[in-house]
Amino acid sequence: MEKLTAKKVVVAGATGGIGRQLVKLLQQSGAEVFVTGRDQVKLDALVSDLGLSPTHAMAADISNESDMQMLGSRVSAEMGTPDILINLAGIGIIKSMDHLTLAEFTQSLNTNLVGSFLFVKMFLPAMKESKKGLIVNVPGVLGKVPMAGAAAYSASKYGIVGMMQSIREELKRTEIRITNLFLGGVDSPFWDTIDLKVQKDKMIREEEAARSIWFLCQQPASGVVSEMVLQPFNHQAI
Ligand SMILES: NC(=O)c1ccc[n+]([C@@H]2O[C@H](COP(=O)([O-])OP(=O)(O)OC[C@H]3O[C@@H](n4cnc5c(N)ncnc54)[C@H](OP(=O)(O)O)[C@@H]3O)[C@@H](O)[C@H]2O)c1
Repeated sequence: MEKLTAKKVVVAGATGGIGRQLVKLLQQSGAEVFVTGRDQVKLDALVSDLGLSPTHAMAADISNESDMQMLGSRVSAEMGTPDILINLAGIGIIKSMDHLTLAEFTQSLNTNLVGSFLFVKMFLPAMKESKKGLIVNVPGVLGKVPMAGAAAYSASKYGIVGMMQSIREELKRTEIRITNLFLGGVDSPFWDTIDLKVQKDKMIREEEAARSIWFLCQQPASGVVSEMVLQPFNHQAI
């Protein structure tokens, strides 16, 4: 296993259910973590609860190009080139076509897909220069299999898979590794705004989901886990 000590890790969506648990694990393993999310209040709470350095936190909207440019500059000034990028920023709008609006469809694409593009784009030049690194995205199982009501969400998540697989082809001459993690349902605040009957007690726990990403971060650089699937035992969609 690769040691995480002093590894520079940027986590987007760090204020979310999975993100918060992951940041805790990374920090306990000695990584230097830079956290970002949209909500300043949640970000401040994360920094103070986990004893993170306030210099290593910045509120930013992942779908906003100038926010991402500012994030890129801040990260570069505070810790240099990241070794690992983890994108956990995402929203879930699950609605049938009868109710899904164009605004909601566009918002899903902007946050989940355009956001993933901007996040990677801001750090890729520096990572290419150092010729190494790891980029983890979390398309979830709805980035691989369809579900009724997931037209917007799946469009954005299937998009991430195609985009990251194409970027992987561009990076073959570097040692930058790309991992897509296909998670099934995780009991997190993600579901709070989704009008769907779900059995949260049957879902993966946030800590377990975070541990799978923490595990991915420690894979020896000689190989790459290009895909990983983690699903609730009682609801295996793949
Ligand atoms: N939970 C599941 O069942 C599940 C399953 C498969 C895949 N996933 C994926 O895993 C990722 C993390 O999910 P989670 O369960 O931890 O969800 P969560 O608790 O709802 O957290 C979502 C995170 O995304 C951030 N975010 C949302 N919109 C943003 C924007 N425009 N700019 C920047 N940050 C933004 C939120 O930041 P603020 O709170 O600061 O706005 C929060 O940190 C998501 O991409 C989700 O699609 C989740």
